[in-house]
Order: sequence, then C-alpha cells, then structure tokens
Amino acid sequence: MPVTKKWSSALPWRRTKADESPKQKTTAPITHESTKQKTTGPVANETDKPAAKRSSESVVEKIIGIDLGTSGCAAAVIVNGEPTLIPIAEGVGIGEKGVPSYVAFTKNGQLLVGEPARRQAALNPETTVQLIKRKMGSDHTVTIFGRTYTPQQISGFILRKIKNDAEAFLGQKVSKAVITVPSYFNDAQRQATKDAGEIAGLEVVRLINESTATAFAYGLDKTEGERKILVFGLGGGTMGVTIMDSGGGVFTVASTSGDTQLGGTDMDSALLNYVADDFKAQNSIDLRVDKMAMQRLREAVEKAKVELSTTLDTTINLPFIAADVNSHKDLVMPITRAKLESLVQPIIDRCREPVNRALSDAGLIPVQIDHVILVGGPTRMPIVRRFAESYFGKTPEWGVDPIECVAVGAAIQGGIMGGEVKSGLVLIDVTPLTLGIETLGGVFTEMIKRNTAVPISRTKTFTSTSDNQTRIEIHVLQGERPMAKDNISLGKFVLDGIEPVKRGEPQIEVSFDIDANGIVHVSAKDKATGKVQNVTIRNAMGLKDEDIGRMRSEAEQFADRDKRLMKDVELKNRADKIVFDGRKMLLEQGVKIPSSLRLVTENVLTELEQIVRNNRTCDIEMKTLEVDAALSRVTQDMQQALHGETSVSGGQQSAAAEIEKLAALRDKSILTDEEFQAKKKRLLGL
Ligand SMILES: Nc1ncnc2c1ncn2[C@@H]1O[C@H](COP(=O)(O)OP(=O)(O)OP(=O)(O)O)[C@@H](O)[C@H]1O
Ligand SMILES: [Mg+2]
Repeated sequence: MPVTKKWSSALPWRRTKADESPKQKTTAPITHESTKQKTTGPVANETDKPAAKRSSESVVEKIIGIDLGTSGCAAAVIVNGEPTLIPIAEGVGIGEKGVPSYVAFTKNGQLLVGEPARRQAALNPETTVQLIKRKMGSDHTVTIFGRTYTPQQISGFILRKIKNDAEAFLGQKVSKAVITVPSYFNDAQRQATKDAGEIAGLEVVRLINESTATAFAYGLDKTEGERKILVFGLGGGTMGVTIMDSGGGVFTVASTSGDTQLGGTDMDSALLNYVADDFKAQNSIDLRVDKMAMQRLREAVEKAKVELSTTLDTTINLPFIAADVNSHKDLVMPITRAKLESLVQPIIDRCREPVNRALSDAGLIPVQIDHVILVGGPTRMPIVRRFAESYFGKTPEWGVDPIECVAVGAAIQGGIMGGEVKSGLVLIDVTPLTLGIETLGGVFTEMIKRNTAVPISRTKTFTSTSDNQTRIEIHVLQGERPMAKDNISLGKFVLDGIEPVKRGEPQIEVSFDIDANGIVHVSAKDKATGKVQNVTIRNAMGLKDEDIGRMRSEAEQFADRDKRLMKDVELKNRADKIVFDGRKMLLEQGVKIPSSLRLVTENVLTELEQIVRNNRTCDIEMKTLEVDAALSRVTQDMQQALHGETSVSGGQQSAAAEIEKLAALRDKSILTDEEFQAKKKRLLGL
C-alpha cells in the first residue's frame, strides 16, 4: 500500500486556480522572466552585498537544490521564503540552464567547467567530457592527460562549481544540497550521484526524483479534490514518467517508470547521422571519423533542433568542415521541422512503453489522468506535445518553465528540510525495480516489489538448504525476472557462525531497508545466535547502463521460457524436499517398517534423488508420484500397525487412489499405456 504524506502549507509559488488573480501572478517566480528578475537583479545591487542577504541578515544554513542534468545543470535556493534560481557566474542564455554539463582539462593543467568547457569543446573534443550522467553508476572511466576520472569525479567537478556560485550568491558557506535524479535511476546510479556530491564537498541531504521535484514546483491544489497527475519528463539524456495522486492535501506517488538512456541527445544523434550521411553521399567524406568536425556538427544540429521547435525550417551552416586534395568543403543543409520530426519519431515511439507501464502499474488508463505536466527541454518540441496530447486526450499544463522546474522543486525540498519552508510535506517516492535475493535453485525471491513507496523496510525469514550448514550467502538482486541470473546483481555477503543443525531449522531473518534516497541496506540475522551481517549496497560495478531497459524487454520476451524454468525449479525443489522428508521418516521409524517396504521406498527415493541430480526434469513428476505412493504405503503400514488393523484394505485403497492418478496421467498422454500397466502391476504387488 502506498505511503501517503501531507501536502499542507499554502506555498506562494503553487499554481492554483487563484493564480488567475493579479496577486498570485506576481508571486509566481518560476517562469523564466520572473526568476531572471529575482536572480540577476540582486547581483547588481550597489551595496555589493550578496544578493540573498539583502533583506535578511540572519545566517541560516541553506540547503540548495540542484538539477544535475545530462546536458545542463541548474540550482535554486529558498530566499526570503521563495525558490530562486542561483545565478551562474558566466550568465545564462534564454531557455538554457546555467551550467552546461561539460568538463574540460587544458594542456596547462586548468580545469574548465560549464560554459567555458562547452565553448572550447569543438576545438578540444579529446580533452572535453560531456554526457557523463549517462555513465553514472557504471565502471566507465575517462583518461585525459594520463589521469583517469570516474563519472562521479566528473560530476563532482560540476557540483563544486555550482557550490561556489551558490556561495557567491548567498554570501555564506554552502555545504548541503538536495540533488535530483531521474525517477528510474537504479541503486548504483543513485549511489554514484551521492558520491559525486560528497566529492564536491556537499552533504547530499536527499536525492529526489526529477518528476517529483517538478510536481513540487507546480504545487498541487488541495481544494480541487482528488486528482491524478502524470509528470512526463524528457531531458537531454533520460526520460521518466511518474504518476501521483493528490487530494485533500495528501500526496502519493503511485508509480514510476522510464528509460535512463533516452532523450534530446538521441535526437541530436539522429539528425547528425542524417546530415553526415548526406554530406558523405555528396562529398565522399565521412565526418564521423573527424572528432573536431563531429563536435561542431553536434553543436550545430542541436541548435537547429531547438530552433525547429519554433520555426518551420532552418539551415545548418558549417564552413570549412572538411577538405579534400582539391579544396575545403562547407556544409550547408536546409532542414525542415517535418524532416526533423520524421527522424525523431522512433525516439518518441520509445517513450510510449514506459508510459504504458507506469499507467498499468498504477492501475489506470490514459483518460483517468487529470493533469499532464511536461518537464525537460525536448518537451518544448511540438512533436512531443502532440504525442502527450494524443496519448492522454488533453492539453498538457502550461505555466512553469520545463527546464527550470526541477531545480526549483529541489530547492523547495531543501527549504522544507532546512526548516525555511513550513510544510508537512515529505517527499515519498517509489522503488523503480523489484528487489530480492537468490534462493534455492537460482530463484529470485522478491523482498520489495517495484513501485513500493520508500522509505520502506521488509523482513522475511529464510532457512538452510542442507544439514549442518554453518554459512548462508545472501545475494542481493534488482530486476523483474523470476530467475536470479537474469537480474542485476547488486552484491553478496555471507552470514556465518550459524549453529550446525538440521536443514530447515535455522531461522535467518533477512531485512531490506530502502532509505528516502532510494539507497538499499540489507541485513541478515541468525535468530538462534543473534549474529547479524549487513551491507549497504554500493556495488556499482555489476551494473551496465542499458541493463534496466534490456531487462524490462527481456522479461516480456522470455516470459514463457521463464515460466517453464520456474516450473522445473519448483519441481526440483519439491522433489528435493520429498527425498529429505522420506529419508527422515525411514530413519525415525527404523525397524517398525517392514524390510521389503523399506527397500522399495529407499530405492525410489534414491532414483528420485539421482533424477534431480542429473537434471532430468522431465522424469521428476513421474518419479515423485512413485515416491509419494511408496511413502503413503509406509504411513499406512505404520498407522495400521498402530491401530492393529489389517493391512489389506488400507493398502488396497491407497493403491487404488494411485492407480487413478496414473490413469489420469495416461489419459493426458504423459504416460504410455505400457508404462501405466507396468506401474499398476507394481502397485498391486502383482
Ligand atoms: N526549445 C527546445 N526544443 C527542443 N529541444 C530543446 C529545446 N530546449 C532545449 N532542448 C533540448 O533539451 C535537452 C536539455 O534538456 P534538459 O536541460 O531538460 O535536460 P537535462 O536535465 O540536461 O537532461 P536529463 O534530465 O535527461 O538528465 C537538450 O537535448 C536540448 O537540446
Ligand atoms: Mg533534467
């Protein structure tokens, strides 16, 4: 059941029906114009005092909100009770975020971050890093001038620049931040983001989902009654969709879904390939082998794509892009919006599946969504708006800048946590993927289902699989497939020192804790000894960028095969238990069992054991039936001995029941008539 929290205070930047009143209009700071006024105005203050200190001299520790984006980053903070964009030293162009997500290293050892790094990227593509967010949580590294950097370090450089600009703006030290992540970021990607903050000298007091931050920026009007809100985010590198319920001041995340490898950058690549192919056809020169030409082309196609959101055609113009033996070559190529739309259509189509999934996880159909909120630069494109309109049958909301709102929402969360914003609201997000552990037979046993509200704790009790087992390995995984090997391994740890007792006796309590940042802590406790072993999942290395999307589609593709495999594993586990229980019974009853019956039972038990060991799953079902029959004969024999009854009628009844079962198997063609007759004879002792 989703956890719900109160959305209580009447925040001034909420977009409510009352926004129509002039008073409300003037207080809404999150449109581009109004934020610009608030952020750039105060910097030019003659008193030379930091802007944020103008009207309040008391120094309260500020928690800044940071939107760490694939293409660009923005930051905001609560000033005088209102979220305010933090101005970036280099200034900001219309519709752009303050800090482009670029980091570069110069020959003389200088580090460039943001706009200065972006400006020189075409000249020094080899020493410039971009799109690093797509590599967060992976083992990817970049090596420049002989030094190797992790994605966390590169993101850390960007975050440090933001911290410095925030300190200059606020006139005080900034050491705490709320950072946003795509709702569909997995555990490793979240951990990496937290680490990047720490590398930058920022304590990351909370990671929040970008979609949820967006909902914060919009505000949710409790006077409107029950509403279903869908935030559709398409950024530079990621897409995410979150469905929320709001009503009566209660705010609940119902489901979330997305793709961490889908965004405006892919649109740029589609256009770039089209232009490069055309250039090659005309000039027999492949621009893709020339890094500098590629960087120039990448910038030019992005600019064209952005322009085509408001114009119907444009021209990509890159003089001296290449040269052959005869002369230099210019690239001049007109592009229409229709052409761009045909190129990006497959990318838009890929958005459909995560939206379907979020809806089905929330148990909704498109028409049940009351408000559609769009966030991220590419949602300014007419084709993206059309997609949303036709899918949901309604016009998406207007009034909040789709590029700034993530940082604004993060600042509101920072304000709530720092006590500057009086609100009972605590953000409740949900787990993007199912978490669980590997159990007997390689089965993935679910601990916390996907789309469960966090923070959450779950405990389940497990036991040993063999006698005298003194250690248990806990293998933690994330994914949607029934077999462990098909999911993402997050880490393993061992609980040892378990008392050497019979199989099935130890009680091992395994607990999963997901904190408000979506980070997983797992512990295992032996109830007998009280011994505990735990781990905070930090194993980023097991995760590959494409894993989640691949696993989702594989889960569907392999559903049937998985079902069969699961059935085999269940059969094996059941047979294993029958052999164990059967042997135990023979041992416990000792001489009370007639030797001929004991021999027959032991034989079938051994046969079943061998079948399991040799993986002959097709024979398990039949042999299990035989074992069942033999064991029930033993039980009956014992009962009759106990009650002094004759063994004939009971034995015959049981044999008759078995024969009936076998006949049913023959009728289903699982047994041939010959096999059936042979077994029947054996059961009747003929
Ligand atoms: N008017 C526009 N039309 C089309 N695309 C645009 C427009 N403005 C910005 N973009 C594109 O939006 C992308 C950047 O959007 P945004 O800043 O929301 O992403 P991000 O936060 O950096 O990435 P992400 O959220 O995926 O990590 C870029 O690909 C940029 O080209
Ligand atoms: Mg973004």
